[in-house]
Amino acid sequence: MPSSAAGSHRSARASRFPRWRPWLMGGLGVVLALLWVPAAALPLPPSAPPFGAVASNPPPENAADFKPDVIYQVVIDRFFDGDPSNNDPVGDTGMYSADHSNWHAYWGGDLVGLTQKLPYIAGMGVTALWISPVVDNVHSPLFYNGSPLPNAGYHGYWARDDYQIDSHFGTWADFDRLVQTAHQMGIKLIIDFAANHSNPNGGGDGGNLYQDGKLVANYNDDIAGWFHHNGGIFNFDDLYSDEYENLFDLADLAQENPQVDAYLKGAITRFLQHGVDGIRFDAVKHMPGGWLTTVNDMIQAEGPHYLVGEWPSSGIADPLHTSQLRFANTSGMALLDFSMNAAIDNVFATGDSMVELDGTQQHINQDFLWPLDQPLFIDNHDNPRFLNKRMSHDLLNDALAFTLTAPGIPIIYYGTEQYLFDNTNGGNDPYNRPMMASFSTTTPAYQLISALGHLRHQNPALAYGSLRSLVLGQDVYIYERQFGNNVVLVAMNRSLNKALSLASLATNLPTGRYSDALGGRFGGGDLLVNRDGSTPGMTMQPSEVAVWQFTAAEPSTPLLGSVGPEQTHPGDALILDGEGFGNVATGGRVEIGSSVATVKSWSAHSITVQVPPIQGGLYTLRVCPFAEPCSNRLVARVASGPQVPVTFRVTGLPDLAPADQVYLTGDTPELGNETGMKELAIGPLIGPILDHTSKFLLVSVPACQTLTYHFFVVHHDGTQTVEAGPEHMMVVPCTGESSVTALWQA
Ligand code: NOJ
Ligand code: CA
Repeated sequence: MPSSAAGSHRSARASRFPRWRPWLMGGLGVVLALLWVPAAALPLPPSAPPFGAVASNPPPENAADFKPDVIYQVVIDRFFDGDPSNNDPVGDTGMYSADHSNWHAYWGGDLVGLTQKLPYIAGMGVTALWISPVVDNVHSPLFYNGSPLPNAGYHGYWARDDYQIDSHFGTWADFDRLVQTAHQMGIKLIIDFAANHSNPNGGGDGGNLYQDGKLVANYNDDIAGWFHHNGGIFNFDDLYSDEYENLFDLADLAQENPQVDAYLKGAITRFLQHGVDGIRFDAVKHMPGGWLTTVNDMIQAEGPHYLVGEWPSSGIADPLHTSQLRFANTSGMALLDFSMNAAIDNVFATGDSMVELDGTQQHINQDFLWPLDQPLFIDNHDNPRFLNKRMSHDLLNDALAFTLTAPGIPIIYYGTEQYLFDNTNGGNDPYNRPMMASFSTTTPAYQLISALGHLRHQNPALAYGSLRSLVLGQDVYIYERQFGNNVVLVAMNRSLNKALSLASLATNLPTGRYSDALGGRFGGGDLLVNRDGSTPGMTMQPSEVAVWQFTAAEPSTPLLGSVGPEQTHPGDALILDGEGFGNVATGGRVEIGSSVATVKSWSAHSITVQVPPIQGGLYTLRVCPFAEPCSNRLVARVASGPQVPVTFRVTGLPDLAPADQVYLTGDTPELGNETGMKELAIGPLIGPILDHTSKFLLVSVPACQTLTYHFFVVHHDGTQTVEAGPEHMMVVPCTGESSVTALWQA
């Protein structure tokens, strides 16, 4: 992207897109402050607030911490047509199906329509919106399998120009209006961005890519090497295949090419300049993790943002499980939680025991450094909807209650709150993307999401709390979330026809009587907690869901709930959220390892610091108000400095057995500080299956530094062969992208 364009957008942001501060805008913050009464000050816990009521404990005003949020996922084309004039736009015609008979065509939804419906979305307590890719998609339709019906990029994953808004959806002005209106309503915006590919290479626009309307890469005349030409993915369980071959028929971008790197980062930068708060990265399993780590680094240097990637996985049994976790714990990007999605399906749609939910949660807790940042979902745009699998509103309500109260950030796919589904072809893509048919605010699902969505912002136990299972069985799950003295107790009987008798519960709710935060809509009544923390035995009716909560007063000891971004570098902003931090006048210090960070702002629930000039590594942080004691500790990863992508290749390897793996290490934290442990080194390196003597990997390394490095082989029996000295040496460029090739030293 030309630097002049970048400059003009940067200044545009300063004036038109101030930092996101919905809770301080207008009179709303004042109203909130007046409405907030510490629950502990009341003789008995208050009843659930009326649906749509404003909650206490306003959300942290930052875009790195989405834990208190509910995310609402929208396929723009299928949501609401607010501007029929763009349905078959000039220059991009012939792909609109006015009667919605062609499910592969545009149906009219757009940014204006979505903006009009924001009050409906906000009514659910939703405070983050994930929109389908909004960039200009193919102008020429595809005709698959000889079908006369055109296939269009109505879903957004067939980019033609990542620098423009698709004219079916509107203009940059419409996009800006969406961002501004959403921010005014306390809603953060997440764009979906496909950096893996352009568009299908066998028809339509043939994979070709444009920048601001100008052709920059021609798939069939690819002189500058913008694309890989290695055919379709041969083995989805092999990272070389995944990253360097085509996903389906999609023209696979070569992120290792500096021009491609600049094109994609420039497009992302443009969206940041237009005020987006987060990005959902499509197909991260199919791009080099090292490259995505540099993308995260670039984005966080512009200010804290929330990034989440799509890496479908079957959980611990998945052949790429280790690679997936390595990515989640080192890239700065969270991952959509496909393992909990499968568990939710198995339990609520298929009827497996509720025990599976707890077991899956334990794995997530062990595996992920930041389990609370991984988003949970029931439905999405790629799989049949819940109601296609199990036609039961009651069970869907149960699944929703779980998703909105379990550890992790809940995502609601558009229409789930209206029980929307289409059963054609089992609800598979594209039948999981019907037009939004009604915007009722009175469905039980809408009401349930609303109650729990608002509760997430009122009671920090849902965003930051631990999980404790109290009762777990085939049909019953009773669990408690707790953050300091904030407690949320959730009870559900999933059985559609059997009542359940329960013995006393040992809850951490304080003594008192609690009304159901769902207003009794799903059968819940009051809960009495005795002086000893026990409750009387009770009966749960079939399909009963109840939520009882206690929102504590501001604690005297600080409680740290979130540090973000998860991965950053010295000089960048880091935000710590929680409770009991005191105020700006009393202040205090923030420790990062044994260093103290420079405080930029300090309030009771949120502190912003600047990362000091420290060595790269994984750090524990804590908040120490001047009136000690200090808070609990949480971790964040700090890189050595701004990152650039470098492809490291080793040739002349001793002939490798199929299960042998090659790793890279070097004299910087990003390369594992010359470690001999494969878990801390970089790898395994990848390459075409038949190449036994050379491997490579694209790695994120600190810019402008001179590095020494070497490779080692971990054989299938666990033994190692380490390369002989001397170390290889390289100078990392200060910007852009690079590659090095080293000859294995036997
Ligand atoms: C995953 C997306 O969720 C899916 O809808 C899309 O078709 C593929 N990635 C390719 O972009
Ligand atoms: Ca339209």
